[in-house]
This record gives sequence, C-alpha cells and structure tokens, in this order.
Amino acid sequence: HPHLTTDPLCGLMFEGVPLNAIADAVGTPCWVLGAGTLRQRLRRMQTAMTDAGLDVGIHYAVKANDHLSVLSLIGREGYGVDIVSGGELARTQKAGIPAERVVFSGVGKSDAELEYAIGLGVGQINVESAEELDIISAIATRLGKQASITLRINPDVDAKTHAKITTGLAANKFGIPFDNAAALYARAFTLPGLKPVGFATHIGSQILSTAPYHAAYARVAELVRSVRASGLKVEVVDCGGGLGICYRNEVEGRPEALAAAMRAELGDLGVRLSIEPGRWPIGPAGVLLSSVILRKEEGLPGPFLVLDAAMNDMVRPSMYDAWHGILPLAPQAFGQPATPTHVVGPVCESGDTFARDRQLPPLGRASRIAILDTGAYGAVMSSTYNSRPLAAQVLIEDGQWTVIRHRQTLEELWQDEAMPAHPTGKV
Ligand code: LLP
Repeated sequence: HPHLTTDPLCGLMFEGVPLNAIADAVGTPCWVLGAGTLRQRLRRMQTAMTDAGLDVGIHYAVKANDHLSVLSLIGREGYGVDIVSGGELARTQKAGIPAERVVFSGVGKSDAELEYAIGLGVGQINVESAEELDIISAIATRLGKQASITLRINPDVDAKTHAKITTGLAANKFGIPFDNAAALYARAFTLPGLKPVGFATHIGSQILSTAPYHAAYARVAELVRSVRASGLKVEVVDCGGGLGICYRNEVEGRPEALAAAMRAELGDLGVRLSIEPGRWPIGPAGVLLSSVILRKEEGLPGPFLVLDAAMNDMVRPSMYDAWHGILPLAPQAFGQPATPTHVVGPVCESGDTFARDRQLPPLGRASRIAILDTGAYGAVMSSTYNSRPLAAQVLIEDGQWTVIRHRQTLEELWQDEAMPAHPTGKV
C-alpha cells in the first residue's frame, strides 16, 4: 500500500492525511476514499493496455463504488462506465457521464430500465438471453431507436474464485451458452431496432490467475471467427472485469498480464476491445475507520475487540469469509507485541465478525483501527440492519479531505416510512 504510511507523531496516514484527524472530526465508523490512488490505478490499467499495443476502452464497474464523486472523477478522466440498473444509470447521468460511454450489463434488466437506457442512447447493451434480445428489439422499435447490443457469452470457464462471485460457469445464471451464441447473433441481425456489434464475457471477480482469462477469450475469439465466416460483422469484444487485488498475501492480478491475455487471444481480430474493472482500481483506494467500543475478555476463546462498525457497514467478511487487513491508527500501537484477537461488530449475529485470531497489539476501549481495501464493495453493500445509520464517507483529494456523505441521522432512518392510521386513533 504505497499510499498508506505511518508517522511517529500522527500514526496511520492515507494519501498524506492523518486518519486520526479525520476520525476526530467526523467520528467513526467512517469510510475514507483516496482519489489519488483510484486515479493512479486506472492510469496503470490504461497504460498496461496501451503498452501492449491495444486500444482498450475502460468502463469502470459502477457497482464497486457508486458514489457521485467517484463517478464524476471517472467521467472527468475520460473513462466510461459499466452499469447494471436504472439507479446506476441515473447516477452516471447526475455525474455528467455521456450516455454513449455507458455499457448496460445484467441478467435481468426491467422494461422500465431498458426504456430509460435505450431512450438515453447508451453506448452498448450486453444481452444475456434470447428472451432479452426480443424484449430489447421491441422496446427500441417502439421508441424509434436503434440499440447497439453485444451478446454476453458464458464460456463455461472456471475462474477459480469464491463460489458466490464466479459467473462464467455453465451452471451460473449469467450469459448465453456458447453453443447457442452464433445462431442468436445471426438472429439479432434480423430483428428491428437492434445493431449487433459483437460479444461480451465476464467470468467472475477477484480472479488472480490469467489462465481463465486466456481460456474465456480464446472461446470468444473462436466465436468471432465463426460468425464472421458466415458473413456477420463483429466490431466489439467486451472483456469484462474481475482482476483481483491483494487482501492478505495474494499476488495482485497484473493489468499487464490481462493485457497480454487480451492481445494473445483477441489482438489480431481487428475489434474494439474494452474492459469493465471495478475492484482492481478502487478496492485499495479505500479504508474503513472504526473505534473499539470495548474489549471483552470473558468467554472462550477471547479476547474480542467489539467495534463500532459491523456487518451492516461492511458485509464482505460475513458474506464471503473475506480477509481484510486491520491496522491500528495510533502511533503508540506500532511495534508493540501482537496477540491473537477476534475483531467483531456489535450486531446480534455470530457472523458479524471481521477477523478471527488476528495478530494485533493490545488495543482497547476507544482505540481506533482501519480496515483496509474497502474501496470496492464496501459502502455500496451497507444496510441499516439493527437500525444502524449509514456511516459517513470522506474523500481525500490532493492532500485535502472532504465529507462526501454525512453520517445518516436517526430521523433519516425512518423518514420514508409511513404508519397507517389506526381505527382507534392509536398506533
Ligand atoms: N462486469 C460485470 C458484468 C460484473 O458482473 C462485475 C462484477 C464486474 C464487471 C466488475 O468486477 P470486478 O472487476 O469488480 O471484479 N460483491 C462481491 C463482488 C461481486 C462482483 C459482481 N460483478 C465482493 O465483494 O467480492
């Protein structure tokens, strides 16, 4: 983590800002996002592609972190976006991203979402089934529009990642079976309102080896060659996202290796290439700050550090058994002897556990910690379970920090609820 440093006076710093200063001002739990880290990682991806001699459009996967400040940065840097809902589309429009830079993915797009996207003229819709192709044709025709579409292919390739985030196996709900793809692509040219432009694939997330990418892209290349042989035009291949990062001791996925796979398998097809990365650019750009409510020594096999952050804030450890680094903020904590500690949240479920037997210095009541690599699939997956307000969010940009989301108030928790009038006048 080149942007995470320690200072003997200020303790843990992120992009040059003491995290304690942010926690003092904003309180905890609090998400901190570094714009510099995000920008650098996006540029590294772009450079890796250019250096491989490829002209690749980067479409940031909005689902990883959909904050307006993030989307506005993405737009200003000239990148496009990959979206999966009308809500994400609306955010990209609010952030000023041109519709032609939007790719619409997803296995179940509602009619209303498709009408919105086609009406706006999004750049590309990735179609995931035969039925969806007909629906899009009908909606585009009704609106008097021409929708650019690709077929998302399920290559039946094992990405060797967590079962809950693998998407490229035949058994998964995603994409069009390889064997049906050529015929469906041909059919797309016969339907009104459609402009078939090529193929897309996305095999999963947190992928750490390039072998599955090679396998998936080789299959797509085979498909491109075969439909071209039957006289159909293919202009685009969308290579999906999924490149993994280092949470613990994994070797981070390298954009250079991804570029090499794209070049080797797809480089000579003369198609426009694109990728849809989410986690890789923004995961390491965020930390979650939290304070220790108390240290519970009782019970086996303690001790438990009970935080003021919980599974409702950051669900990844509960949901995917994900491992996230945990570092103390205070300068005094560094270099102290570490002992195995369980780090948990206050929610009433045993699954509300951030880490088991984590080697940590002696932390206690009011100590602060940072949970690392929470920029992707962190705040976006929060809920208000246990009536816990959504945490505050802060953005660091050029050494200055700003609150980009205030801590939700208790009133805001129920402001959209209504109570039916009770016949007796009492609730
Ligand atoms: N494109 C499509 C069609 C996707 O479904 C996804 C992610 C991406 C791109 C971006 O993948 P990435 O580059 O971020 O790996 N909540 C889970 C991750 C779910 C990923 C879903 N799809 C987690 O916290 O691990």
